[in-house]
Amino acid sequence: MKPDGSAVLNEVAGWTLHQHIELASTNDSARSLPAWHAVCARRQHAGRGREQRVWISDEGGLWLSLVVPTPGPAQDWQALPLLAAVAVLRVLKSLGVDQARLRWPNDILVGDRKLAGFLVERFHPDRAVVGLGLNLFNHPEQVQPALAGLTLRLADLLPQPPCREELLEKILQEMRRVHSQVLSSGFAAWMGELEGVWQINRSIRLILHGENEPLEGYFLGVNEQGDLRIQEKSGELRTLSFSKVHLLTEH
Ligand code: BTN
Repeated sequence: MKPDGSAVLNEVAGWTLHQHIELASTNDSARSLPAWHAVCARRQHAGRGREQRVWISDEGGLWLSLVVPTPGPAQDWQALPLLAAVAVLRVLKSLGVDQARLRWPNDILVGDRKLAGFLVERFHPDRAVVGLGLNLFNHPEQVQPALAGLTLRLADLLPQPPCREELLEKILQEMRRVHSQVLSSGFAAWMGELEGVWQINRSIRLILHGENEPLEGYFLGVNEQGDLRIQEKSGELRTLSFSKVHLLTEH
């Protein structure tokens, strides 16, 4: 960020990158930008997670929002959160983080600890803001002790983790690649790759919006829209969209 508070602008991997020292939330700053702009900040003081949760965004993490064009009907892009996660998983695997997996809809975990999360928001019909929070060198559990044992950082997984700029560039590149693959092949072409990113048959508990009783069952994967497929303990099969699920936990 320059002394007058404005961002430093760079062209990186086909994106116009706005770099700030501190913002409230990169997703909010990206809200009115055109497609193929990206915003990152070293710290956020009002970082947001899904379902109105607070996202701890201390120095050393990667806090990034990408403005992605979404031409055509909105339902064609319903699975964008999953695809963004696949792009980041690909980057992590290329760095040697082979154990990384996805927990529906788009948390990236290693074992049972969260490495990264996404908040995808649509402020305009023709584009979406894909917000990514990835723990790299930061210490979220020092800011919020309740996170101890629940999160981990790339620095815990790799003897020589990439610097923030290198990781950022790789993610920007992969997001462009994934986007052009979606345009050329559609979402159905991803079903094969998606099958490899979960741990299927996990026992899960869901809190659904507007329902008091949690739903328990087994995670089966997703359909072609990215909706969750589960088998209830009674044996009944259910499909649930992103908007129905308030919280998913594994146990
Ligand atoms: C979640 O797992 O609940 C989603 C977390 C998303 C956090 C990122 S950090 C960059 C962008 N700006 C925000 O305020 N949130 C997202």
